[in-house]
Order: sequence, then structure tokens, then C-alpha cells
Amino acid sequence: MTTRGSRITGWGTALPDRVVTNADFEARLDTSDSWITERTGIKERRFGGTTASLAAEAGKKALECAGLLAQDIELLILSTTTPDLTTPATSSVVQDILGTGGGAFDLNAACAGFVYAMVAGGGMVKMGANRVLVIGSDTLSKITDQDDRATAVLFGDGAGAIVLEADPIEDKILSYDLGVDGSAMPILYCNHGGYLTMEGREVFKKAVRVMVESSKNVLESAKLTVDDIALVVPHQANLRIIEAANQRLGVPMDKTAIVLDKTGNTSSASIPLALSDAADSGRLKDGDNVLFCGFGAGMTWSSAIVRWSRS
Ligand code: UT7
Repeated sequence: MTTRGSRITGWGTALPDRVVTNADFEARLDTSDSWITERTGIKERRFGGTTASLAAEAGKKALECAGLLAQDIELLILSTTTPDLTTPATSSVVQDILGTGGGAFDLNAACAGFVYAMVAGGGMVKMGANRVLVIGSDTLSKITDQDDRATAVLFGDGAGAIVLEADPIEDKILSYDLGVDGSAMPILYCNHGGYLTMEGREVFKKAVRVMVESSKNVLESAKLTVDDIALVVPHQANLRIIEAANQRLGVPMDKTAIVLDKTGNTSSASIPLALSDAADSGRLKDGDNVLFCGFGAGMTWSSAIVRWSRS
């Protein structure tokens, strides 16, 4: 039986030039490289750019990787929590920079947003779209209080993108699981014009729980076990969260894509940044099952299993 669906045919990333190290925070806040490294795994992050400029750079590279022109794109979905303007959507600015065809919209599901956007893009392919550009881009430095050690050290700016193209034979998005628990909103939020407010320990506990449950859900829907997964690409918030979820799921760390030591938590960008790093370093081959898993403010979560297949 054939099932029209999508596959990932291109990817790309963008990071601002300015590197902010743990030593930079140590120099001006009551914190230390050892605290940040031990509690989070983060060593440095990047600050700068706009959500649109980073998104456009990542999107352009993903198009080049897929061998497509911008006008070939029939839909652009931009996942972001940090739009440059209230209106229009930042995706409009990105569309203008790149010259993509078709429609464009922003999607906000916080740090779970990229997988939400990929699943939404996959749904549009099932409805007939042939080529969808999915971008995750965030500039969290602009909504983080740089004098608050509890949050300042965690977040960074960046973007990552993938191209989804129609696969007439088999949907390579094997399964997905999207969820939200709006009652958990008070543990992580940002008011208009304000800074991110977070109860770190609560977010940590809930994050591990939803990552494990959501990953189990997608494994079950795809009729796979954890041993069938070649690579896990988790949201890059905290190495200890990833380790705790992996331990409960039985996933070894060497089967996990990690970039947070160099990027910090980049929200919507974190999963495509980690995916691109793994793909660029030859860690993926056709036929590999990749488990994506995100969580974020809302509280939202999102998982998907994608069979890697560029051809
Ligand atoms: O994308 C989703 C967004 N957010 C997250 O995923 C964050 C989830 N949470 C976490 O990653 C962790 O909870 C944190 C990294 C935020 C904090 O680590 P923790 O091990 O949960 O530490 P804690 O909040 O329990 O704080 C322990 C201590 C506190 O001091 P006292 O009360 O024990 O004296 C904090 O004030 O560490 C202190 N602290 C710091 N010390 C040095 C908090 N931030 C810092 C800091 N440097 N930057």
C-alpha cells in the first residue's frame, strides 16, 4: 500500500557571530563556569541577529542542501517564540528575503514548536503541497534578563531549517505525538515586553516526564522499540534533562544528538540545529529511524519518528 507523505531532503542552520562564554557571565554575575557546566552542560551560546535574519539564512542553506530554488517552495512555516514584530508574522519578512512561493505563517508552541511545525508541514504535504520549508528560529537573548543568573546563562539565539518534499510512496514521518497542558503555564512564561520567568526545578521534572511519555507514544504508534531508533534528537535545554529521559527510555547517550554545549537553549532552533549537526557529521544514513522530542512553555511537548531518506 502506498501512502503519500513527506521526507526530509535538506537542512541548514544559522548562528550569530557573537560567542558568549560561561566566563563572560562569571565576570559580571554571581555564577561560575563549573556551576553552569555541571547543572546544564552549556559552555557557550551565541547572541545576535534578528529572528527573521537567522531564519532566512538557515532557510537558504536548507534550500541549497535540497537543490531547490526558493520559488519551488509551496509553504513556509516558521516556528518562533520571539517574533520580530507583533504583526506581520516574521515568516512574511523571511518570505520577502528568500522569495519563497505559496503561503507562510508563524507557529508558536515554544520550545516544542519545531516538531509541531514539521508535523503541520507533513500534514500539508498529505493535502497536496509538494515542498514545504520548515524553520525554527529564536532570539531568546532579547527576552532574557541578562542580570538574572537563573535564566541568563541558559538561553541563546539561532535558527535551523529543513525542507520537506512529497514522497508519493511512503510517509517518512512514521508517527507523531503533540500535547499541551495549559495549567502548567505559570512555571514558564514571558509577558509582552517582559522577560522569561521560570521555575527551573518544576520545568525540569515535568520535562523529563513528558519527554519519556511522548517518546513512548511515538514508538508505540510506529510499532518500533527503542532499539530500532538510530538517533534521538531532543530539545537542547539541559544535558541533565536529556540524560534523565534517556536513562528512563533506555537510550544510550552516543545515540543522541547534542549541540547545547555550543548553543545553549535556542528554543525552536534547538532540534534542527542538533539534527543538522548530526547529518553534517555523517551520523545518519538512509533507513535510519530518528526520534525527535521537544518540550517547552505551555507546557507543550511534541515527538515524531522520521525515517531518514534523502533519495
Ligand atoms: O526550554 C525549556 C526551558 N527551560 C528549561 O528546560 C529549564 C529546566 N530547568 C533546568 O534546566 C534547571 O532547573 C536549572 C538549570 C534552571 C537549574 O538547575 P537546578 O539543578 O534545578 O538548580 P536549582 O534551581 O535547584 O538551584 C540550585 C541553586 C540555587 O541556590 P540555593 O537556593 O540552593 O542557594 C540557585 O539560586 O543554584 C542557584 N543558581 C545558580 N548558581 C550559580 C541558580 N542559577 C545559578 C547560576 N549560577 N547561574
